[in-house]
Amino acid sequence: MMDLNFDRDHLWHPYTSLSNPNPVYPVVEANGVCLELENGQKLIDAMSSWWACIHGYNHPVLNQAVIDQLQQMSHVMFGGLTHRPAIELGKKLVEITDKSLDCVFFADSGSVAVEVAMKMAAQYCFEQGQTQKNKFLTFAKGYHGDTFGAMSVCDPITGMHHKFSRLLNQHIFIDSPQCGFSTPWNDEYIKTFAQALAEQHEHIIAVIFEPIVQGAGGMVFYSPEYLKAARELCDQYGVLLIFDEIATGFGRTGKLFAYQHANVAPDIICLGKALTGGYMTLSAVICNRKVASGIGTHFMHGPTYMANPLACQVALSSIELLLQSDWQARIMTIEAALRQGLVPCIEFESVKEVRVLGAIGVVELYKPVDVEQFQQKMIEQGVWIRPFNNLIYVMPPFTIETTQINHITSSIQLILANP
Ligand SMILES: Cc1ncc(COP(=O)(O)O)c(C=O)c1O
Repeated sequence: MMDLNFDRDHLWHPYTSLSNPNPVYPVVEANGVCLELENGQKLIDAMSSWWACIHGYNHPVLNQAVIDQLQQMSHVMFGGLTHRPAIELGKKLVEITDKSLDCVFFADSGSVAVEVAMKMAAQYCFEQGQTQKNKFLTFAKGYHGDTFGAMSVCDPITGMHHKFSRLLNQHIFIDSPQCGFSTPWNDEYIKTFAQALAEQHEHIIAVIFEPIVQGAGGMVFYSPEYLKAARELCDQYGVLLIFDEIATGFGRTGKLFAYQHANVAPDIICLGKALTGGYMTLSAVICNRKVASGIGTHFMHGPTYMANPLACQVALSSIELLLQSDWQARIMTIEAALRQGLVPCIEFESVKEVRVLGAIGVVELYKPVDVEQFQQKMIEQGVWIRPFNNLIYVMPPFTIETTQINHITSSIQLILANP
């Protein structure tokens, strides 16, 4: 038996305390889309371990990729050395992202990727002599990670980082896009964005936001037309555009990258999470040649575990596995099943809105969910889920069966029907 007392007394878990920690459930195995708890109970994973585990757990191809790489080399420093997994993964990322994006920086987590992207944009501007620039423009309800630079562009009011506001650089926030994914376009939707750029572009290093889906800040979906208009305005005012695709990348929204819904490319893109199929931590920041060559001789960043060969190799195998599969059809099947199972929730009095896009389903309530209680009830139904605030949301591995999705959605319905 695992020493859960030690865990409770000594180990921090995400977004909780050591004085009064939330409950944790001991997992002994993860296979396919199922997590097995120590008591033998099996749970269908509706979270893909926070967007990452797109192929399911314990995948033979990804396991083999790690084993083979481990036998050659688990790690070497990337300063002054290089290796095949980094080169091959770099090639693959350049091939599958927009043709303008061809300069790759490997970092160790999503938050660090955001730091790197912000630093790239800033160093670019300073090297161009635009030293008056000291702000980023971003959206309310955004989430970009937990390090200081990333925190400074997360929602300052409803976000979880408000405790640090006195330490954070002050950036420019505008309302998150008000147009749903399929809302007919009207130029009014981009007005605040246009106004902010018109008035403050001389001070704006870059615009940074999550394209199409704002994730942990509110699970908001918005129109591809917004991206097109934002790209045009950034070009008009000579401001760099950064897309944070850490959550949306690698198929989650129905396109390989969310920006492809709009066919516009950013100057810098951040990738992470599903990059390694949920096997280990790795992120990539990819910029265009204009940014890379404008940065000067040295870009001042270099993590110890930069381009870790194990992570690069498993990422390469994960991308190949995804591209060899019929992933678009799978996402469409998941989307249809989520829609069918979640849309009826709108009938419950507690439910404000239901939205589904690709392999993401969201039930937004009027009031905050009692996370512990909801989670407990879902576990009784054999499902792993982690709601936050007033959002019950699911983003299962792409390998999930329709019957398993039906079980997830009917469990959500059951619990909402019996509050
Ligand atoms: C859009 C987005 N950016 C950045 C991050 C931070 O990534 P990490 O948790 O790997 O630091 C996340 C994580 O949830 C995210 O969803």
